Amino acid sequence: MTSRTRPWRRAALPIAAVALAAAATVAGPADPVRSAQPDWAATDYSPRTNYVLRCSGCHGLAGKGAAAKAGVPDLAGYVGAFAADPDGRSYMTRVPGVRSANLDAARTAAVLNYVVEAFAGPSWKPGTPLFTAEEVAAAQALPRTDVVALRRHVAARLKADGAPVAPYPWP
Ligand code: HEC
Repeated sequence: MTSRTRPWRRAALPIAAVALAAAATVAGPADPVRSAQPDWAATDYSPRTNYVLRCSGCHGLAGKGAAAKAGVPDLAGYVGAFAADPDGRSYMTRVPGVRSANLDAARTAAVLNYVVEAFAGPSWKPGTPLFTAEEVAAAQALPRTDVVALRRHVAARLKADGAPVAPYPWP
């Protein structure tokens, strides 16, 4: 009997998956399941929890990244140099992982401050200001740019100043 039921089971799973995917794509503002969800941009998780939820999948819990395997640069021991440089700060607010985190400007500022506090280590420069919602909103309102080129520009200046810059595999 089991051999007869198995083909049905095999077929049922993909059908269920297709139905779920279809339901997800047609969900609009009036969808009752969706409107019951919290507004992610306004959810009051701590900055650390937002880091864990929205950043650590790529950057790791300790900010160690995976430069060689996945092109994710280390934050630990490096991110302070970017935070101390005006263009570096603009770059930090505009990297795709930060932009796509779906956090509002204040929560983006808070998670960036968490990253600097938790991971800058010796790369932190005294006098580095905290990120504010205003700074993040202004930088993110600038036209989209090639972040790889922007990083190269900032990295060249930091290196010339003797600041540490994490290895970055993209040409
Ligand atoms: C999908 C993977 C991914 C996620 C998620 C992600 N990042 Fe990144 N992050 C990267 C990559 C890759 C880079 C290198 C720049 C680039 O090529 O986009 C980077 C660069 C950075 C940098 C600049 C470091 C450097 O040396 O260039 C900072 C700061 C940063 N991310 C912070 C964050 C924060 C904060 C979050 C969460 C809100 C986040 N990232 C989410 C992949 C990710």
